[in-house]
Amino acid sequence: MPAPNTPTPRSFDVLVVGSGAAGLALALSLAPRARVAVLAKDRITEGCTFYAQGGIAAVLDRQDSIEAHVRDTLEAGAGLCDEQAVRYTVERGPACIRWLMDLGVDFTRERAAGRGLHLTREGGHSHRRVAHVADATGKALETTLVEQARSHANIALFERHIAIDLITTRKLGSHENRCIGAYVLDRDARRVHAFAARFVVLATGGASKVYLYTSNPDTSSGDGIAMAWRAGCRVANMEFNQFHPTCLYHPEARTFLISEAVRGEGGLLRLPDGTRFMPRFDPRAELAPRDIVARAIDHEMKRLGLDCVYLDITHKPAAFIRGHFPTIHRRCLELGIDITRQPIPVVPAAHYTCGGVVTDLHARTDLEGLYAAGEVACTGLHGANRLASNSLLECLVFGMAAAEDISGRLEEPAPHIEIPPWDESRVTEPDELVVVSHNWDELRRFMWDYVGIVRTTKRLQRARRRTALLMEEIDEYYSHFRVNSDLIELRNLVVVADLIIRSALWRRESRGLHYTLDHPGRDPALDGIPTVLTPQPNTGGYAPLTVNRNG
Ligand code: FAD
Ligand code: SIN
Repeated sequence: MPAPNTPTPRSFDVLVVGSGAAGLALALSLAPRARVAVLAKDRITEGCTFYAQGGIAAVLDRQDSIEAHVRDTLEAGAGLCDEQAVRYTVERGPACIRWLMDLGVDFTRERAAGRGLHLTREGGHSHRRVAHVADATGKALETTLVEQARSHANIALFERHIAIDLITTRKLGSHENRCIGAYVLDRDARRVHAFAARFVVLATGGASKVYLYTSNPDTSSGDGIAMAWRAGCRVANMEFNQFHPTCLYHPEARTFLISEAVRGEGGLLRLPDGTRFMPRFDPRAELAPRDIVARAIDHEMKRLGLDCVYLDITHKPAAFIRGHFPTIHRRCLELGIDITRQPIPVVPAAHYTCGGVVTDLHARTDLEGLYAAGEVACTGLHGANRLASNSLLECLVFGMAAAEDISGRLEEPAPHIEIPPWDESRVTEPDELVVVSHNWDELRRFMWDYVGIVRTTKRLQRARRRTALLMEEIDEYYSHFRVNSDLIELRNLVVVADLIIRSALWRRESRGLHYTLDHPGRDPALDGIPTVLTPQPNTGGYAPLTVNRNG
């Protein structure tokens, strides 16, 4: 039954949910051929892309090679990368950097004239290969992409529009299943619109907000993963949550990252008494992959009862520090820390979601008409651990791959199915907003305490029981009350939490980012076996999961 006064559907060739590197690379690549709508649930620039610091990994130096970048990525991925996806991504790296330079991204150059881009080094990379714009690469990237998108007549940008759920033909009673749009809440007008599109792309970023402490902005609530899961798509490798070793420890800077490039350029990790500890954990010391560094910090903090450890770059000349890390230097100075003279207090925090919606090399998902690109997707590139600065690269490569695939399909006949308006006839205004904020805090806290850097089966089971209760409560709340963005995100976060916990319980070994005290070693029988969760058809959003080992 149509609800009264419901707005008419908005119709596009392609609906892109998300305006970060993945969504905008895709929109810009498609716009010459298609009418594209791009949604952002907050301001258009808000998302992880804007805050990226270190840079974009690509083979740009003659001493470096595609083989070396492939090898480093496979090694970080701890036996779970899909080598085809790794090769596909790495080979396209140099072209992505050229594309960005053509759009106007002004990468930092070597001081000496004619020596090309300055390439920085990060953990796990055997060469200097990270192209960057000082320590604010994401800001330069995102603002350039947004500027280009704003000036393109075929791209319509919708700020503060949050997608609630995908619209599929099966939900509308058809036998064939295909994604044909999404229901979207205009947060300012407080109205839900149906957006109809021939192709829908999820570019919603990751889910690190499921943890209490994170380097991510508020947009990372796993919306795309939860929407795809509810629509019947497989989700993989959700137990591999990357914790960045060095987020600033300061009460006024909850999510500020201290780039890995600081370690890449010589920064040393120290205990409060000034002693280094990383050489005790790994021969690569501060330049070991970040799972090793994050676990070492966690270990030392727990062993010594510390609130934080310290990252020290004071042995480098002050002009070098200010030149390479102007953003970090300025922000720390505002908080009373002069990084040219004082070590920086740091702690690990949730940073990146390696798992996500299963996609192929064209960024297609299991659902016809639905694509996923960027952090929301699981392409097989990262395996059990992402190599630093491979994420922006993946966003660009797979955003463009999706654009190319969609371009080739624009002539296909469009499905003619009428989309009913969003029905709010049976819901009322929320009676107790405290329920949402309480559940939100509880979820993020127990995820941090029980499903964090070091796990045990008992803690995971405890978290799973709590998730089950929360799911029931949130589901009931969602069915009775008018939606708002907090409720939409909470509903998605609890789905993501459940997927993480179930995946972590399934993996009875320690590998990459998943470390459990009950199974501290790697099980060779699980080499090359991702954790693929398959929703059960026809049983709704919270169906029991099945693990399909053959992916
Ligand atoms: P995002 O850039 O996160 O964008 C997500 C978009 O989706 C936003 O527009 C958001 O509004 C929108 N969205 C989400 N849900 C909805 C919804 N329901 N409805 C409508 N819109 C929605 N990686 C690197 O490779 N190099 C780095 O140097 C680097 N540094 C980083 C530093 C920080 C502090 C952080 C947090 C991450 C860093 N990363 C880095 C990781 C990298 O930035 C991200 O993985 C990448 O930017 C993700 O891009 P994306 O396009 O997938 O999503
Ligand atoms: C950083 O600058 O340390 C972040 C790099 C990344 O997440 O890839």
